[in-house]
Amino acid sequence: MDAATWIGPLAVGAYIVAALLFVFSLGGLSKHETARAGVGYGIAGMALALVASLTLLALGDPLVGLIGALVAIVVGAAIGLWRAARVQMTGMPQFIALMHSFVGLAAVFIGWNGFLAPGAVPHELEGIHRAEVFIGVFIGAVTFTGSIIAFLKLSERMRSAPLVLPGRNWLNLLALVAFIAFTVWFVIDPQLWLLVAVTAIALLLGLHLVASIGGGDMPVVISMLNSYSGWAAAASGFLLSNDLLIIAGALVGASGAYLSYIMCRAMNRSFISVILGGYGIAAPSRSEAATGEHRETSAEEVARLLADARSVVITPGYGMAVAQAQYPVAELTRLLRERGVEVRFGIHPVAGRLPGHMNVLLAEAKVPYDIVLEMDEINDDLADTSVVLVIGANDTVNPAAAEDPGSPIAGMPVLRVWEAENVVVFKRSMASGYAGVPNPLFYRENAAMLFGDAKDRVEDIVRALAAVHR
Ligand code: TAP
Repeated sequence: MDAATWIGPLAVGAYIVAALLFVFSLGGLSKHETARAGVGYGIAGMALALVASLTLLALGDPLVGLIGALVAIVVGAAIGLWRAARVQMTGMPQFIALMHSFVGLAAVFIGWNGFLAPGAVPHELEGIHRAEVFIGVFIGAVTFTGSIIAFLKLSERMRSAPLVLPGRNWLNLLALVAFIAFTVWFVIDPQLWLLVAVTAIALLLGLHLVASIGGGDMPVVISMLNSYSGWAAAASGFLLSNDLLIIAGALVGASGAYLSYIMCRAMNRSFISVILGGYGIAAPSRSEAATGEHRETSAEEVARLLADARSVVITPGYGMAVAQAQYPVAELTRLLRERGVEVRFGIHPVAGRLPGHMNVLLAEAKVPYDIVLEMDEINDDLADTSVVLVIGANDTVNPAAAEDPGSPIAGMPVLRVWEAENVVVFKRSMASGYAGVPNPLFYRENAAMLFGDAKDRVEDIVRALAAVHR
């Protein structure tokens, strides 16, 4: 039997198995205990998909198809490995944003290729093919420029404050209406200028959508762009008639959209406003300046406070990740528990710069899972806590979110650490957090600042604790 007659169906079978492995992978990644297996399923699915795709290419023109793909894979994998090995954990969000921009750019190229070299499209499917080209280019271009702006904001190469152009919602609406009208026109009469126009409109829309979203909402933007990149890949799958790309793209698109929805709910933000580039979010009117006298403390004083405490809650944030303070924090936790102090962690859903950022760091330092609680699980206990240690967190513990309706982060649920008997804030200065909002917590009577690098200060406390008698 000719190889082509059985390799084709075998490859389709391999694609279906790979798609199932991707579904298992997502399922596995949803829990700590099964996350490792989830990653394994994902790798196996991707390896199978690659082998099947390369085999199909070898059946066509081996020289151009197979060798071209192998060269692209080797060059791409080398650059990917080189960059990924160097990226710090704290630099992951901007790295991911950059990766999303590549997916968007690839979708634009595939769309343009579908127009310039359409291949053999049956006459009755020409309209559908043109719509696929147009939609693929549009989603890809929005993802491309949106992700670049997210990369610039997350890497602090651009200000994180929202861009508020006059009539910004009308601009977005106009772009959307133009896209729909041009799509209909292109399906009827595929002219080159229409494709050029939609590419330009979508590139500008991507820039505008993400530039209009402020610092505090950036976590949602990352997952939203993740979702867009999935839909861009699915659109490319339609153009390339590749079922696996359609399924994998739809999985990424749908799970990213759901994650964005959950994050919006956790942060009390409207999902629709965020995906429409800040639609309906009024510019902050007035914000009470955080002023007053702050009190400084020392490692020795904190060690005494902790030794006398009944219960301690640690709320870590981005600064713990920067300082890599999770190891001394785990050691301090162990020492306090040995002394009979109840120690728990309170994790805000957007603490750090990645969903689950703090959980990963604490798991790495072997802090037991059962004392690491979500914000909603710990918030009501904070009023009955002797000492809260705020380690490198800022926006996620800012009382202005709960108390100042004029604040840019008003309404965002935060850890109510100020309700505890004592609060110790670990940071290097009085600077604001990621959202650029001043924090009145630092001036509260029950709060004290412990300045310096979080890792150094926690290590100082661990040493000082040894000198405090039980
Ligand atoms: P942030 O508000 O970002 O504040 C972190 C604090 O850590 C800073 O105020 C900084 O103060 C301090 N810090 C930095 N390096 C330090 C070091 N070596 N030692 C001690 N302190 C250090 O942190 P957060 O409370 O975790 O909030 C997260 C913010 O990031 C939110 O606004 C969230 O919306 C945003 N965001 C989150 C995500 C996700 S998905 N989690 C993604 C993108 C953006 P000093 O400079 O004074 O030291």
